Amino acid sequence: MLEQLNEWNFKKEIAEIKNLFDWEKVYIKLLGKKGKINSFFAKIKEVPADQRKVFGQRLNEIKKEIEKLLEVKKLEIKKLEEKKFFDPTLPGKPYLKGSLHPLTYVIEEIVSIFSSIGFIRVSYPEVEWEYFSFEALNMPKGHPARDDFETFFIDFPQDKKYGRVVLSPHTSSGQNREMRRIKPPIRMINIAKTYRPNWDATHTPMFHQFEGLCIDKDINITHLKGTIDYFVKRFFGKNRTIRLRPAHFQFTEPSFEVDVSCGVCQGKGEIDGQKCKVCKSGWLELAGAGMVHPNVLKMGGIDPQKYSGWAFGFGPERCMMMREEMKIDDIRILYSGDIRFLEQF
Ligand code: DAH
Repeated sequence: MLEQLNEWNFKKEIAEIKNLFDWEKVYIKLLGKKGKINSFFAKIKEVPADQRKVFGQRLNEIKKEIEKLLEVKKLEIKKLEEKKFFDPTLPGKPYLKGSLHPLTYVIEEIVSIFSSIGFIRVSYPEVEWEYFSFEALNMPKGHPARDDFETFFIDFPQDKKYGRVVLSPHTSSGQNREMRRIKPPIRMINIAKTYRPNWDATHTPMFHQFEGLCIDKDINITHLKGTIDYFVKRFFGKNRTIRLRPAHFQFTEPSFEVDVSCGVCQGKGEIDGQKCKVCKSGWLELAGAGMVHPNVLKMGGIDPQKYSGWAFGFGPERCMMMREEMKIDDIRILYSGDIRFLEQF
């Protein structure tokens, strides 16, 4: 009997199992009530008395081994079947979805507002010649106005005419480039990254601007006002108004600062007799603008006797924060890549 037990090749029987159906059959055959293990136990009486102990021990060992091998086999089969089996009715695994940066949405919206009144979006180099950033905007070398546009300079050989290479400090450099590209009528919206070496709670070294430029015959300030008013009403809401305040820029004459009426106090500057905490005056500063300086037109190859134009420069970050009334105490969070912030949009 002990010999029979020792010769029993149960490992082979288990190894030959191919699927769960076989597995079930083998399980019953080996470990079931009327299975082989039990039949050996039943025959224990037939074993000569001196071999009984060894027989019993061996049988128990084999039983345990079979249990273990069957368990391993079951896992193997399940894994294999999982691989083979595809149930198209099961719901798919949800993938993590990214989203666009909140500012990207705002830029798309700005482009769509201006394109509805005939403005075409263009892009001009972020790595730009000094000439387009300054000289072509009526700020010759050494002019103090250039200091207003603190600038990153690139380590690159100077050009005799165009000067040094800079990271464009404002989108106004697109004005001359657009005048070189096409003849009037010009209706440009140039949205780009701009750079200035500032890093604090209200400045990031990289930010954005959008520059509007309109050049045609008989263009005057009312067209400028009308266009900005149209944008403000669509972007901030119908009840918002704008005002122009005199200012100075080298590339426009006359020049203005554009203010938008405060959305919190509706331009009144106070709420229930208290000064509005957001604007303090009823107005919020929004942009710079003006009528394109004749020198700027000339440098773009356009005759200022025949044509006139206006230009403005806005900050989309500022527009976004003003509209969403984001209470951000540090603007750098916009570009920190912090998912907890970005996920909210
Ligand atoms: N380029 C100016 C800046 O970065 C903004 C600006 C002012 C743009 C007046 C214009 C303009 O087109 O007419 O501060």
